[in-house]
Amino acid sequence: MKRKVTKAVFPVAGLGTRFLPATKSIPKEIMTLVDRPLIQYAIDEARAAGIKEFIFVTSRGKGALEDYFDHAPELENSLRKKGKTELLATLKSTNMDSGAIAYIRQHKALGLGHAVWCARRLIGNEPFAVILPDDVIAAEKPCLQQMVEAYKETGGCMVAAMEVPPEKASAYGVLDVKEDMGSMVSVRGMVEKPSVESAPSNLAVIGRYILTPQVLKNLNQIKQGAGGEIQLTDAIAQEIEADRDVYGYRFRGQRFDCGSKAGYLQATVAFGLARDELRDELASYLDEMKASRKAAQ
Ligand code: G1P
Repeated sequence: MKRKVTKAVFPVAGLGTRFLPATKSIPKEIMTLVDRPLIQYAIDEARAAGIKEFIFVTSRGKGALEDYFDHAPELENSLRKKGKTELLATLKSTNMDSGAIAYIRQHKALGLGHAVWCARRLIGNEPFAVILPDDVIAAEKPCLQQMVEAYKETGGCMVAAMEVPPEKASAYGVLDVKEDMGSMVSVRGMVEKPSVESAPSNLAVIGRYILTPQVLKNLNQIKQGAGGEIQLTDAIAQEIEADRDVYGYRFRGQRFDCGSKAGYLQATVAFGLARDELRDELASYLDEMKASRKAAQ
C-alpha cells in the first residue's frame, strides 16, 4: 500500500546572493509577493496537499523565518481590540500547529541533495515531499496537490516538470523521457544542469518533488555532481538505475522563478493582478507604462 505523504522538506538555507543587499539582513524566503512572504505560498501549497509536518532546512541568519512562523499574541490582541477582524483572520491563517514545524541546520552549503539529506532523521522511512520556495506556482489546484493525487496512482518518485526553451535547459535538472503519457512521463534518466548540447530534452525539473525514503539512502553515498554540489537529481537518478519508477509530472499552472529578479518582478505583477483590491489600479498603471514606452520609441 502506498503511504500517504504527510511530511515536506523546505530547503531554505541558500544565501540569496542574487537579492543582495536586501538579503544581507532578511532571508530571501521572507521577501513578499504583494503582502505574503514567498515561504507562505509554499506552506499554503503544502497544506493544500495534506502535508502535516513541515521541515525547514535552514542556515545561519534565517532567524526571521522562525519568528515569522511563531504566533503573534500581542499583534493579535491589538487587532482584536481594534475590531480589525479581517486582518486578524489573515494573521491567524498563517499560524501553525504546535510541533508541526521543525528546523534543522545545514551547516555547510554543499548543495540541494545535502540539504534534503540533513532532514533524513525527521523523515524516517516514509515518502516525503520537497518544495523549493523559489519556484512559485500559481495554479487553480495547487501543484503539490496535483502531484499527490497523481502519486496515489503511480507510487515511486515524482518530480514536477515543465518544458523550457532548449537554450535554458542547462539551468535545470532535465529529464530523459522513456514514455510520454501526457501529463505524466516515465523517466529513463535525469541530468543536473546539462550543457545545451548534451541535454536529453527540454523537459525541466521544477521545485516540487515526491520522493521515496530510498532517495535519502542514496544521498548517503552520492558524490559531488554538477557545480561541485551534492545534487538531489543524482540521488533520484539512482532510483532509475536501480530499476525503480521515476515520473515527471507536467503540472497545470504558471511557474515563476522567484530566485531571479525578473521572475520575482513578474510574479509580483501577476499576484497583484490576481487581487481584486489591486487589479484595476495596477492594470491601468501597466497600461500607462506601456503607452509611454511606445511613445518614447
Ligand atoms: C534546483 C534543482 C534543479 C531544478 C531547479 C528548479 O536547481 O537542482 O534540478 O531544475 O532547482 O528550480 P537550482 O535552481 O537550485 O540551481
